[in-house]
Amino acid sequence: MSTPFCPGYGHEPFRTLVEQYPGVDVYPAKHFRVEWGPVFHRGRLDGSARLLVLGQDPAQHETVSRRILMGTAGRRVQGFLNRLGMVHRYVMVNTFLFSIYGQQGGAQHINDAAITDYRNQWLKAILEVSDIRAVVAFGSLADKAWKNWLSSPLAAGRPALPYRKLAHPTSPEASTGDVAQATKTMLKGYSTALAALAPLLAPTDTQAPVLPYGDAFLASDLPAIPQADLPAGSPLWTGATNEWAIREGATAAEKRMNIRITAPPQR
Ligand code: URA
Repeated sequence: MSTPFCPGYGHEPFRTLVEQYPGVDVYPAKHFRVEWGPVFHRGRLDGSARLLVLGQDPAQHETVSRRILMGTAGRRVQGFLNRLGMVHRYVMVNTFLFSIYGQQGGAQHINDAAITDYRNQWLKAILEVSDIRAVVAFGSLADKAWKNWLSSPLAAGRPALPYRKLAHPTSPEASTGDVAQATKTMLKGYSTALAALAPLLAPTDTQAPVLPYGDAFLASDLPAIPQADLPAGSPLWTGATNEWAIREGATAAEKRMNIRITAPPQR
């Protein structure tokens, strides 16, 4: 059996970026779970990416896997990519390197200069190594991250890229209203984006016709995260199953310190 893996950050410009990530002086421990380390990206850094995806911040599955967009949000994003036919040539970065702690942490730090500057170095590196044809931001913080890029000197003089802001994939569950209705509204937006993005990326990886979502996610809209996106030796179930990492503890402080990982039984 041959198992693909993500080669990581051994080559420039990503090697230096990863070596020089901002720490607690930039990401305050009060608002970010800095103790779990930064999580940088998922997808192709070899120049083959054509679609750039912006997410928000890593949670517990990402913390364990060391790649972003791995949990429910990540699988929904992967389902979006599958519908689009972009199953290889994508790259994803989050707005924040560290997991947000508390409700307001993200909004409070979205315009912090040092956080923005480092993220913009990543965006510059990706745009310089890859012929990115379109950008999708999931959620309003990711949208702000892209706008902060556009207004930075690093973006000056670069050709404008087609851009879509979409609802964050787990926003229906985060809303106080009817989750089914919020999902339906979100998927309508996703379908509009699929139709707009597909011609920009043609020929897509699969070259399959792009089909719109219905009113709810199908099981096929939560595909496995490709093994090629994960560090070498990652257990296969980390990409293929869901909800295997849970924050545990009786208090907020305990929950912050403990992630319980449950492997599926082996036959
Ligand atoms: N995990 C991520 O890495 N990013 C998100 O936006 C959500 C979950």
